Amino acid sequence: MEPLALYIHWPFCVSKCPYCDFNSHVRNSVNHDTWEQALLQELQTASLTQKRPLTSIFFGGGTPSLMRPQTVEALIEKAEALFGFSPHIEITLETNPNSFETEKFVDFKKAGVNRISIGIQSFNAEALKFLGRAHCVKEAYHALESAQTIFDRVSFDLIYARPHQTLKEWEAELNHALQFSPSHLSLYQLTFEEGTVFEKRLKRGEIIALNENLSSLLYEKTQEIMDQHLLPSYEVSNHAQKGQESRHNLCYWRYQDYIGIGPGAHGRITQEHGEKHEKYATQNFKLPEKWLGSIQTEGHGLETKLLLEKEIVFEEALLMGIRLKEGISLETLKKISETALNSLLARPSLKILEQEGFLVKTSTHLKATSKGMPILNAVLAYMM
Ligand SMILES: C[S@@+](CC[C@H](N)C(=O)[O-])C[C@H]1O[C@@H](n2cnc3c(N)ncnc32)[C@H](O)[C@@H]1O
Ligand code: SF4
Repeated sequence: MEPLALYIHWPFCVSKCPYCDFNSHVRNSVNHDTWEQALLQELQTASLTQKRPLTSIFFGGGTPSLMRPQTVEALIEKAEALFGFSPHIEITLETNPNSFETEKFVDFKKAGVNRISIGIQSFNAEALKFLGRAHCVKEAYHALESAQTIFDRVSFDLIYARPHQTLKEWEAELNHALQFSPSHLSLYQLTFEEGTVFEKRLKRGEIIALNENLSSLLYEKTQEIMDQHLLPSYEVSNHAQKGQESRHNLCYWRYQDYIGIGPGAHGRITQEHGEKHEKYATQNFKLPEKWLGSIQTEGHGLETKLLLEKEIVFEEALLMGIRLKEGISLETLKKISETALNSLLARPSLKILEQEGFLVKTSTHLKATSKGMPILNAVLAYMM
């Protein structure tokens, strides 16, 4: 049976980080009872169109570690009752390393969470201050040590290619991170997203982005170090020991079905109509209060549900799959549209990208090479 993933979005944070364009909001108070009921209601509504067992659940945000463990538990229980769980279901919760949240790790585990992803971002006090984080280095160590004691599967995030960061500094920081023997690491280069405080500061000249050449060097060094530590990348920014890849995120990149609940969550769902398989894109209201209002009047927070044209399905599958080291399966693309696949393979731009060593086409997959991966957006723009 095809995998089915469930994403649950918790939209609140203690403060807004200046680089973040995620759907995250700061509120003076949150009525946890109301939010629990609303999320449970949307889960129930979502189950009306999908009935197969879930292969993964991901609590993302925002800061889902601000949720009450009892809410996490109620959602996991209801998800199991409504959909059923496949035997080795992966249940991840994203957490910030503030001490208030670390204290809840044991209860999250009791609630059914079996994988934790910590937003450490840096082990350097100055960097944490620059990134506007609400935690300090000591809390990062404490969260990591507790998580590794309590959970079998722990991942953490770091942000690099920060302004003024040198190759030497990043190498030292990454080697330091590796001393914790992680089995999964997400390593993101800092990006200046539209509408963020950092983007405004960049425009005003108050901060200067690292130059592209140095960013590329940092990326290459990252791959080299991670390969040496048997944590190769399986996606542009994600590294794991063999078998420790995030099964939930693989679902997105392999363009398999996922349900999204909570403010701003989106989903991709296949519905069968007789012989026909149709893919729908769902998008929830982003603003927490608007989503909550819609739950109370409609029983769901859906802003749009669109039937995707075959060409769009093909393009989305390609854009997601090419991020993976394994690449995109030609069989998958063929199933979506043989005509679109033939036209893609006949494109002169694809041949040029192959000749220049940015892409390779094997008998089963189309994938980016190590030369193509760091400039994937440019490769895709050229190809399309
Ligand atoms: C949903 S976000 C945040 C999760 C959690 N609230 C936290 O802050 O730790 C997931 C990850 O995306 C990364 N991220 C977010 N914005 C970024 C940016 N502008 N540049 C690079 N990485 C970013 C961070 O590493 C972050 O941990
Ligand atoms: S805590 Fe995480 S989700 Fe919240 S604003 Fe900061 S980076 Fe964004």
